[in-house]
Amino acid sequence: MKTETTSFEEIAAREEEFQLATYKKFPFAPVRGEGSWVETSEGERFLDLYGGHAVCATGHCHPHVVAALREQAGRLLFYSNVVYSDVRAAAAEKLVECAPAEIKKAFFCNSGTEANENAMRMARMKTGRERIITFTGGFHGRTADSISATFLGKYRDIGRPNVPGHLCAEFGSIESIAMLADETVAAVMLEPIQSMAGVRLAPPEFYQDLRRLCDERGILLIFDEVQTGIGRTGSWFFAGSEAAGGVVPDVITLAKALGSGVPVGACLTTEAVASSIKENDLGTTFGGGMLAMAAVVATLEAIEADGMLENASAVEAFLRESLAAVPNVAGVHGRGLLLGIELAEAVAAKVNKALLERRIITGTSSDPRVLRLLPPLCVTTEEAGLFVEALKEICA
Ligand SMILES: Cc1ncc(COP(=O)(O)O)c(C=O)c1O
Repeated sequence: MKTETTSFEEIAAREEEFQLATYKKFPFAPVRGEGSWVETSEGERFLDLYGGHAVCATGHCHPHVVAALREQAGRLLFYSNVVYSDVRAAAAEKLVECAPAEIKKAFFCNSGTEANENAMRMARMKTGRERIITFTGGFHGRTADSISATFLGKYRDIGRPNVPGHLCAEFGSIESIAMLADETVAAVMLEPIQSMAGVRLAPPEFYQDLRRLCDERGILLIFDEVQTGIGRTGSWFFAGSEAAGGVVPDVITLAKALGSGVPVGACLTTEAVASSIKENDLGTTFGGGMLAMAAVVATLEAIEADGMLENASAVEAFLRESLAAVPNVAGVHGRGLLLGIELAEAVAAKVNKALLERRIITGTSSDPRVLRLLPPLCVTTEEAGLFVEALKEICA
């Protein structure tokens, strides 16, 4: 395969000819990456504060992850859940150890949407009820049940005809949930920080009230931590954190950062929920495969060994302080390295483009005022400083 010498124009033309055009793309084609940087075939380097779409939390090509994948690929690429596996056992154990104490079991799948589908199924199995409450502004994926649970912009319509039994409450309003949460409801599912909606966070009391309400009414609580999980907010999970008011849900769903770029999703749950799941209730051919499991173990080890949780909080503090002095920045939302930078006007797309011209990759959101940062958790304050300086220039 030609990549090193192929020009961007050639790569783009070829991809457009042979791949469905389902994404609006950045105008460059990275061919290699290291830490917070990616490089194109033409030798241009970009600072990646979008973290490969919130996936590359350990940075691009973390040496420990690459070495673990090489070793595993040479030993055993794949066998499904019909066999026991040393590396699957290690991944499940390590993930459960990183999670709040109430979480005891892991189920592995392949993506975020699949993790959410399985979490909703687990809730229906545990409660014998069918309906699911999710929230305005939440995004949960694009397969049938997950897209039906997504009340953000146009997504739900793309998934028509939707799966029945999905109810929508107002994010942050316990009253709106209380009105819907009757004896037909199996679960309340939420992105504890709504990322695509513009990095929206509720006060800790909201999560505490929600936990209480779910307990009173026999409803399971599911945190979709596809974006917030695996260190993104400066702790392993949003669940159990101070920002969550210490609340631990019944199920946590994960994907994105979990495998450093190797596709893998997971549901983490309590003993009480796990005990109602029987053989053959859930399944997937690829979930829990050896290569993905090696990626999970190495990702968790790399985050731990390099102190990335502490780094996420330190870089967050640096960004909050430096951005306070940038004209036209109206606020910084989120936790750790899931940050929404609210601009004084609805110009996030323009600023995103201007940053890209300076070779800095950021994300936008469904709020036209909010620029999103989801950098690798190993990003340095010096690298974050390059962004602050560029933003100052653009805002001036
Ligand atoms: C919060 C959240 N949940 C679920 C998903 C779906 O994950 P995937 O694209 O891996 O199916 C996403 C993807 O962006 C997400 O951000």
